[in-house]
Amino acid sequence: MRAFSGLFQLRCSRCSACYDSRELIQMCDCGAPLFAEYDWDLLRRELTKGDLQERPQSLWRYHELLPVMSEQAIVTLRESMTPIIPLVTTGRAMGMQHLAVKDESILPTGTFKARGAAVGVSRARELGVRSLIIPTNGNAGSAWAAYAARAGLRAIVTMPEDAPMVARKECLLAGADVRVVAGTIADAGMLASQLHGAGGIDYDASTLKEPYRLEGKKTMGFEIAEQFAWSVPDVIVYPTGGGAGLIGIDKALRELRELGWLDEKTPRMVVVQAQGCSPLVRAFDQGAKESEFFDHADTIAFGMRVPKAIGDFLILDIVRRSGGTMIAVNDEEISAERQNVMKLDGLHVCPEGAAALAGVRKLREAGWLRETDTVLSMNTGSGLKYMDQVSADHAD
Ligand SMILES: Cc1ncc(COP(=O)(O)O)c(C=O)c1O
Ligand SMILES: [Zn+2]
Repeated sequence: MRAFSGLFQLRCSRCSACYDSRELIQMCDCGAPLFAEYDWDLLRRELTKGDLQERPQSLWRYHELLPVMSEQAIVTLRESMTPIIPLVTTGRAMGMQHLAVKDESILPTGTFKARGAAVGVSRARELGVRSLIIPTNGNAGSAWAAYAARAGLRAIVTMPEDAPMVARKECLLAGADVRVVAGTIADAGMLASQLHGAGGIDYDASTLKEPYRLEGKKTMGFEIAEQFAWSVPDVIVYPTGGGAGLIGIDKALRELRELGWLDEKTPRMVVVQAQGCSPLVRAFDQGAKESEFFDHADTIAFGMRVPKAIGDFLILDIVRRSGGTMIAVNDEEISAERQNVMKLDGLHVCPEGAAALAGVRKLREAGWLRETDTVLSMNTGSGLKYMDQVSADHAD
C-alpha cells in the first residue's frame, strides 16, 4: 500500500547526526535544528506530478512530502493554496516587467504562520503531545493557538508586551494561556524555554527548536514551483525575522530536485529586514557566517523583529549560495510601500509584505534587479491585522 508520508528520519542541519523520527525530539544534541528527511527512493517510485492534479488545492496535496504519517492525524482549518498576484502597475512604476506577490493573507488566522501551525500541530499531536508552548511576535501565536484549540491541545503563548494587540486577543479568544514579557521575542523565547524546562509542558514549538513547523512552511516552496509550472522565478524576496519561511522554501526546492521534478534553475533568494532590526543584513555585509544579537531592535514590521535568528547560519548560507542578497528598509519606506501597492494595485499587504516590496524597489533602483527579472515577493499576511498603523485622515 502507498505510504501517506515518506518521512524517513531526522538529520541535524549542522553536524548531520541522525535521529528516529518516531520519537518526540526537539533539537540535535549539538544544539542545532533538526530537519525531516524523506525516503527519496520510495517517493521517486510512488509519487508523480500527475498524482497531484486530482487533489484539493491545499497544502495537504503534498502529504507524501510532509511529516504527518496518517490522514486521520491531520488538523486542518482548510489551508488553501495561496494565489500569485501580478503587480502590474506597481511593477511598471518601479521599472519591472514581471513583479508578482504570493499572497499568504488568505490563510486561516490571516498569515503564512498557519502553514507551520497546521503541520506542526498535526505532527505534535500524532506524536502524543498534549500541551505546547510557543514564543511569538504575534502571528505564530495566533495560528498555533487556533490549531491547538482545534486539536484539543493546551497552548501557552509567550509574547513581547508590545506585540500587536490583535494577535494577543486572537490567542486569548482561542483559549491559550498568554504570558506577556518585557523585551523582544528573544525574551519570550527564554521564558518559553524556562517554562518547558520546568516540566508539565510536552513540547517547545519555537521556530527551529522542533523539526516539523518548518515542514509546513516549506509548502510555500512546493506551491511556488507548481504555480511556475515546475520551475522557479528568477528572484524570491522574503521579509525575514527568524527566516523559517526562507529556509523552508529552499528545503522544498531541494526536495523537488531530489524527486527530479524541477529543472536546475535556482532562484536568487533575497532577505529583506527592517533597518531597526537587521542582524542578518549586517552579517551578510560583513561576510560573517552567523549574525550577532541586534540591540534595541525596533520596527513597525513586528514579525521581523527578531534580534538573533536561531537559523542565521542557514539563512546566510542559502542566500549566498543562491547568488542572492540582503537589504534593509526603514519604517517610512515600509508604510509608504503599503500605501503605494494598495493604491496602485488594490492589494492590502501587511507591513512585512510591504517591507519586501520596499526592498524590491531599492534593489531595482540600485540595478541589482533587472527590468526583465521575474520577481516573486512574499506577502506573509493580511494588512487588516495592522489597521492601527493607518491613520483615518491618511487618504487625502
Ligand atoms: C507577517 C509576518 N511576516 C514575516 C514574518 C517573519 O517570518 P520568518 O520567521 O519566517 O522570518 C513573521 C513572523 O512573525 C510574520 O508574522
Ligand atoms: Zn548536530
